[in-house]
Amino acid sequence: MTRQQKTVMLVFGTRPEAIKMAPLIKEFQKKSDIFNTLVCVTAQHRQLLDQVMDVFHLTADYDLDIMQQGQDLYDITSRVLLSMRDVLRQARPDLVLVHGDTTTSTAAALAAFYQQIPVGHIEAGLRTGNIYSPWPEEMNRQITGRIASYHFAPTETSRENLLKENVHPSNIYVTGNTVIDALHLVVNELKCDKRLADRERQTLIGCGYDVSRLNEGKKLVLITGHRRENFGDGFHNICKAIKMLVLRHPNVDFIYPMHLNPNVRNPIHQVFGENLNDYQNLFFIEPLEYLSFVYLMEKSFLVLTDSGGVQEEAPSLGKPVLVMRDTTERPEAVLAGTVKLVGANYQKIVDEVSQLILDDHSYSLMSKANNPYGDGQASKRIVEIIRNILGQ
Ligand code: UD1
Ligand code: UDP
Repeated sequence: MTRQQKTVMLVFGTRPEAIKMAPLIKEFQKKSDIFNTLVCVTAQHRQLLDQVMDVFHLTADYDLDIMQQGQDLYDITSRVLLSMRDVLRQARPDLVLVHGDTTTSTAAALAAFYQQIPVGHIEAGLRTGNIYSPWPEEMNRQITGRIASYHFAPTETSRENLLKENVHPSNIYVTGNTVIDALHLVVNELKCDKRLADRERQTLIGCGYDVSRLNEGKKLVLITGHRRENFGDGFHNICKAIKMLVLRHPNVDFIYPMHLNPNVRNPIHQVFGENLNDYQNLFFIEPLEYLSFVYLMEKSFLVLTDSGGVQEEAPSLGKPVLVMRDTTERPEAVLAGTVKLVGANYQKIVDEVSQLILDDHSYSLMSKANNPYGDGQASKRIVEIIRNILGQ
């Protein structure tokens, strides 16, 4: 490290944070004359995080390796907080950057605050206004927002949310969401390199799904789920709705890359049994690497999910999204008509998915490409702003 450089530490721990921080890390690393870029992973997720690190060729300077099977919020918070104490004492960064609304982000922001190190919040200002939905994410992002000195808001709406909480306007920067940067990177790679698309096709066959099934114009419904507030009855309803849809639409394929959380997998087994291969048009597969997932999203007809990131990605690929939640902190695509909330409600899920499958008009209304979350340049903007903030 040279005397001119400023040290910026990016801290993250889960799959979506890694995907959304990856383009930012690359951008900082391009400016190595100005920034000493440190990557600290908490590994709140182990396998899901490592998948992303591999895809984007990232290496961690610090790996806190905190994940435990069946961890609860106390485990994550305390383990991140304590481990970060030692890392921050050693590295003494000029700025800590955290992302979004995970417990990693909030605990890392708090750890930085305890050493009076300023915090920048990437993907700041998303709000539902209901602290139990999503839980604990809504409170996580509010606390992180309170701690942060600099707020990188993806949209004008998120900026307005912060202004309502009396954040000073000069500390809010509307940059777009780095998820679109990551998506562009991957989509361009897939477009430019035909061998890569072939490789992804083969990878998917290895995972249990052959996309050439779609050559005859077959429709594919892509499903993901993991939200804590859907644990229990919510996931039970979701699985029963999927079962009904699979039986009602035998000519449509349904594919569900399952999150590794046992709270997500147990209801799947309760509804579908131990052997998940009983239905010819339903495919339960392991979580996919980001490239394979984006490849599959592009091939899909619609997406049924409770994910935050997928709500942002799928509309920009022109895919309708039905969100299995009662609230969303991402209202932009709902307003644009490409995202609809269906809750974890059996009847609503069955009805809305069926309507999109059967009614071309409803489908065309929802399937227009729509990208309110950015232009793929968010990371560049953020790095430039931080350069000014740190006086470089
Ligand atoms: C976490 C975040 C959530 C984010 C989601 C993205 C919190 C409280 N939750 O939820 O905001 O939307 O990540 O996916 O910060 N597991 C593994 N391997 C992995 C990952 C998870 O085995 O690579 C299993 C473990 O048993 C782990 C459990 O899943 O204990 C739950 O992981 P956790 O990070 O606590 O919750 P998520 O539901 O993944
Ligand atoms: N994703 C992935 N593989 C999968 C499922 C999702 O790479 O099998 C990606 C997806 O494209 C998105 C992110 O993971 O960028 C979303 O993660 P998740 O839904 O776990 O978290 P959330 O966004 O809800 O916090």
